[in-house]
Formats: sequence, C-alpha cells, structure tokens
Amino acid sequence: MAGVAVVGLFWPSKLTHKSPPFSSSRCSRRYIPSSSSNVRMAISIDEKKKTFTLQKSEEAFNTAKELMPGGVNSPVRAFKSVGGQPIVIDSVKGCRMWDIDGNTYIDYVGSWGPAIIGHADDEILEALAETMKKGTSFGAPCLLENVLAEMVISAVPSIEMVRFVNSGTEACMGVLRLARAFTGKEKLIKFEGCYHGHADPFLVKAGSGVATLGLPDSPGVPKGATYETLTSPFNDIATVENLFETHRGEIAAIILEPVVGNSGFIAPKPDFLNAIRRITKENNVLLIFDEVMTGFRLSYGGAQEYFGITPDLTTLGKIIGGGLPVGAYGGRREIMEMVAPAGPMYQAGTLSGNPLAMTAGIQTLKRLQEPGSYDYLNKITSELIQGIVDAGKKAGHAICGDYISGMFGFFFTEGPVYNFADAKKSDTTKFARFYRGMLEEGVYFAPSQFEAGFTSLAHTSEDIQQTIAAAEKVFRKI
Ligand SMILES: Cc1ncc(COP(=O)(O)O)c(C=O)c1O
Repeated sequence: MAGVAVVGLFWPSKLTHKSPPFSSSRCSRRYIPSSSSNVRMAISIDEKKKTFTLQKSEEAFNTAKELMPGGVNSPVRAFKSVGGQPIVIDSVKGCRMWDIDGNTYIDYVGSWGPAIIGHADDEILEALAETMKKGTSFGAPCLLENVLAEMVISAVPSIEMVRFVNSGTEACMGVLRLARAFTGKEKLIKFEGCYHGHADPFLVKAGSGVATLGLPDSPGVPKGATYETLTSPFNDIATVENLFETHRGEIAAIILEPVVGNSGFIAPKPDFLNAIRRITKENNVLLIFDEVMTGFRLSYGGAQEYFGITPDLTTLGKIIGGGLPVGAYGGRREIMEMVAPAGPMYQAGTLSGNPLAMTAGIQTLKRLQEPGSYDYLNKITSELIQGIVDAGKKAGHAICGDYISGMFGFFFTEGPVYNFADAKKSDTTKFARFYRGMLEEGVYFAPSQFEAGFTSLAHTSEDIQQTIAAAEKVFRKI
C-alpha cells in the first residue's frame, strides 16, 4: 500500500468550512476558495491493486455493507468501476464537498444534477427553515405547489399542465402510463444507453446496432413488462423508421434523453431531434423528452428550448427539487387532463408536492432566472472541457469531450461518440486510473466513464483552472 499521498497542500482545519464561505448568499460565483492552495489529501492510492483507501470512509463503508445492499442506497454511488470504496461525505457547500476523513474536493457530480446553483445555498437553507416552521408535509394542497407549477409551465415550452411526483423514476413511470392511456397503444421506443429510471418497462437491454424487442436487463423484471419496449441506437433515424414500418399503428410513444447523460455525455446529431419530431407527428405517436437531467440545465427551458423542438410530454426531476426529492411530468393540456382526478389514468403520491421540495425548487429556479446564469455555466464548462481534452491530448492520450451549458463529458477514445456503442470503445481502465489520480488531487467526478458531469454557478474560473492543472499532472502519470 502506498503511503498517504500528499500533494503539498494543506486544509488548515476541517472546521474552517463550517462558517459559510460566501460573504453574501448571492455572490457564490465570485467566491474564491481560500483553500485552493492549501489542501492535504489523506488518500492512499494503490495502483498495483487498482484501488485507493480513505481510512474513515473505509470503516464506515464496511459497516454500511452489513446494513444496506452493497453499502449504498443507489448503485451509481458504489465505486465498482474505478476501484476503492465510496467516499463518505460529511458536508457540502458551493462547489465543494468534504469527506469524513477531512479531505476537500471540487465536485462535478452536484448530487447527480440538482446542485446547479451550488450546494447548501444560503438562500435555499433560509427559505427551507421558514417553510419548515409551518410543517414538513401536509398531504393536502399548498400554495407552494401553485408557485412552482406556474414557474415550470412558463419555462418549459411543452408543458401546459404539470403533475409533481417524488423522483425521476416516478415521473417516467407516470408519463408512460399516460402516453398509453391517451393513445390506446402500448409499444414504446427507447434508445440504447438512455436511462429513464428503474421502472420495469425501461430496464431493457438494447440490442447491438439493430432494433430488437426488449429483453429484461435485470432479474425480477418479467418479460411481459418489457415486451412492448422497442430499442434503437441513439442518433440513428433509419432504425427508428424501420421500427415504425414493422410496428405500424402499435406505438404509443418515443421517449429519449434529448442529450444523453447516462452513457456519458452524448449530444444529438444536428438533425436527429427534428427528424424524430417529424416522424412522431406523421405517425400520430407521442414524443416524450425525458428532461430529468437536462431540464433547467441546458437552458432555463431545458433541451426543448435549447434545440427549439417541442415534444408532447416532458419529465423533470433533479433541479426542480433543488436537492430535495422531486420529479414531475407535464405536457399538452388535453393529454394531462387524462390524469386522475381530472381523468381516468390513475397515479398518486403521499408526499407529492411536498412543501419543502417545492420551496427548494422555487428558490433554485429564481436564482437560475438571474441574467447571465446560463452564459456563465457555458463559459466555465467550455473552459473545463477544453482544458481537460487539450491536457489529455498533449500527454498523448486518445480523448474526446463535449458540453452544453452546465453539462459535460469526456471519453478515453478518439471519438466521435454518437451512441452507446461508440461510448463503450472508451478505455475504461485508463479512466479508472485517471479517476483515482484526480481524487488524490481533490477533484470529484462521477465514478464511471458512462456518466455526464455537471458544473454549477458556484464553480469559479479558479476552480476550473485548479481542475485543469490537476488533470495535466494526472494525465502525465497514467
Ligand atoms: C434522464 C433520467 N431520467 C430518469 C432518471 C431517474 O431519476 P431518479 O433517480 O430521481 O429516480 C434519471 C436519474 O438519473 C435520469 O438521468
């Protein structure tokens, strides 16, 4: 086991970050971390065993494994593809996270998307404290639901009515039932490498390169649940057209991530979304944009505003809950009026429209409305991805990367990457080495080559430069 890696920097006291690092809650993007030249990382990297150790995190994880399957409550948090145990987090603020071993990281996961204005924003915390004084859950309508619903409806072009739920998975489950109820048809087209939550019909192992009837991707998913799920590679219009030919009159909807984030970052080819919109209209099939990740991230109106293409239905999550559990689906009024109790399609939720989640969502969207938010995200993310790709190439690695606003990805392959099959050409062993090296430098990316990354309004240019400098150093070593 290598000794404790010291990168010549020292974080003076873990308590330092307890006093909010922002001089005012509104100036997060001007915050320059006093820590940037002063961090000691207590990580033992062992490249022979392809792993690393953080002593307290390891102890906590060993306990967790006895208590919860795999020691985590969501599989993406496990470090299976990069080695080592998950890092156990103690606290977050702005663009930084602190683990229970006392290390600090610049965070590019952002709680998997919600933290677009930065973690633990003072204004959100204050608003939550105010709401909490009135209670944590009513199980009855509250005014905050109207406020967030109005904000979502006025922002997202396709949404005329919305139903709040508690997660992106629930939103996707609900929207599929709705699409089937509205069209009276059952088949669904999804794209290989797109994730729409863990409900049975979406857990389909896509065929390689050709359209195929879906087979369950997980034990426990009955064949019947995925029988109506058809799949196509992303960015492949010819396969979609073939599916329409073969299953004429049987297809209820196409669902897709308009920019894929669950195979790494994959942008649509210039005419792909247009073609999908045209084909769905011609065939009377509903188009569903799963904007759980891209909603309020690519632009205030999401991917549909960014690309100028309006689907029939949209799912949302992550950002609209500002870090609290939330999801939503919405669309044209005539479709949404099928949902109970306005219509016959049943869907319900004990905690749906919860006042705390509504509050955090409202505050987050208010901050995103401030002029320049998305220009800022675009600027820092462009600096980041350009810097990483340039540094990688300079050190002789095959690497490509891309971004839109505050969402990005890079692959250890020459590219271009248009679909999941292209993404899988990446050198994942090299990614894992890069990942461990970056952790040692105090940079936290998603622990998988096949996940998008996120920036926030709390990341400064100094954070980005610090990250690029770390990447240059790590690229030279791997
Ligand atoms: C595009 C997309 N849809 C749906 C989901 C499921 O959301 P949740 O994890 O909130 O259930 C995710 C989760 O990452 C997602 O990225």
